[in-house]
Amino acid sequence: LLVFAGLAALAGCGSQGAGSKGNSGELTFTNRLRVPPVLDPAVAADGTKQFSLTMRAGRTEVLRGRPTPTWGFNGAFLGPTIRATRGDRVAMRVHNQLGEPSTVHWHGMRLPAVMDGGPHQTVQPGTTWLPHWTVDQPAATSWYHPHLHGSTAKHVYRGLAGLFLVDDPAPAAPDLPSTYGVDDIPLILQDKILDANGALQEDPKPTWGLIGDQILVNGVYDPFFEVTTTLVRLRILNGSNARMYNVEFVDRRRFHVIGTDAGLLAVPATVDRVQLSPGERLEVLVEFAPRDQVVLRSVAGDNGIDGGDYDLVKFVAADQLRPGPSVPRRLSASPRVEAPAGARERRFRLSGSDEINGREMEMTRIDEVVPAGATEIWQVQNTVYAHNFHIHEVAFRILDVDGRPPPAYLQGPKDTVFIPAKSTVRLAVQFGHHTDPRTPYMYHCHILRHEDEGMMGQFVIVEPGTEASVRRILPRHHH
Ligand code: C2O
Ligand code: CU
Ligand code: CU
Repeated sequence: LLVFAGLAALAGCGSQGAGSKGNSGELTFTNRLRVPPVLDPAVAADGTKQFSLTMRAGRTEVLRGRPTPTWGFNGAFLGPTIRATRGDRVAMRVHNQLGEPSTVHWHGMRLPAVMDGGPHQTVQPGTTWLPHWTVDQPAATSWYHPHLHGSTAKHVYRGLAGLFLVDDPAPAAPDLPSTYGVDDIPLILQDKILDANGALQEDPKPTWGLIGDQILVNGVYDPFFEVTTTLVRLRILNGSNARMYNVEFVDRRRFHVIGTDAGLLAVPATVDRVQLSPGERLEVLVEFAPRDQVVLRSVAGDNGIDGGDYDLVKFVAADQLRPGPSVPRRLSASPRVEAPAGARERRFRLSGSDEINGREMEMTRIDEVVPAGATEIWQVQNTVYAHNFHIHEVAFRILDVDGRPPPAYLQGPKDTVFIPAKSTVRLAVQFGHHTDPRTPYMYHCHILRHEDEGMMGQFVIVEPGTEASVRRILPRHHH
């Protein structure tokens, strides 16, 4: 039986054709994992934390001796980690030095629509955008990236992405590893295609767009990380354009998922593998013994966007490890998202032609009008190949996938969900209280080519009772 299982696994891998390419076992783990620096805010007299981000081009030595032209925030590649505590007032200075328009979307942040950084908040070259809001949401691993309609794939692929961590001033589980860069480590997973000169190849492939076979972690190829504590928290972000990861340790050790996109789980979920589609985040705890050496990898799946086995990063534990906390039994006391009896239900169909409900994204069309504070059931049906679905501004809970509850590790608060081919998910979606009948938020497939080509819709949040008076057609923007 074991032999058969092994052969079946090999056969499954081989049948992926070009998708089975991978580097598993080939890397030498020679590059130290870079941890994005935390961005220091200036603190204004009223306590507002002011963060400055400049979008610019540069060069990054991803492959030795072959510098890659890249884009970044405040540097040549990726962006610094923004960190704020619930209750903080934050103010951003987003300066665009790219030479073309872009935007910066705060993926996972719950804020007014005009601050969201979606396709309507264009930052023209040479100008500065100044959004500000009060952080009011549970602790979570969020991120930021451009969202200019039609250019999101290119801008993210070139390197514009960073983490936005929200902390809780009085966490229910105060004992989690939390020394950033030591036992609290971000892992931004991205796939690239680098040519012989080190340049990023940007020709989209059919169906999925940019899907590469060189995996970078925090912008580093072939990385290792030195473990110094017995318990390490990893904040994993799938920051790829299309690739999905099936993440496990090569020794199949078990680890503990503690958080999903929008916050902590109620209790840890122990797993030996997790799946992340583009835009999704997971926080996990991993136990290490002295002198452990173990590779974190992604194994091939059959979703079309997760072909190939890839080594991600090697963890190398020191001879002696500082004892960390133990894995907490409880994590979050926040109630889970529940839809009330009789909750409004909306249905969305994702097809094979970059449309939602038979329509492509239109900047001037409001597709859905939602009353502030509502919890609704959104049913998303995928009629062809794999997609995922992200909703701005909300926290949702996956109720079921094809009628079955999701695995325990995906039962936490989320903002992005994977939808296998020909499957249907139902979500309990909790909307916020920032009303604005004229400025929409987005919902879309987070496979960036699909998003760019129109698999996106727009919703506004309005005062309950005013839904019928919303103008469904917006004036065209002039810049
Ligand atoms: Cu991370 Cu609308 O996107
Ligand atoms: Cu978003
Ligand atoms: Cu899609």
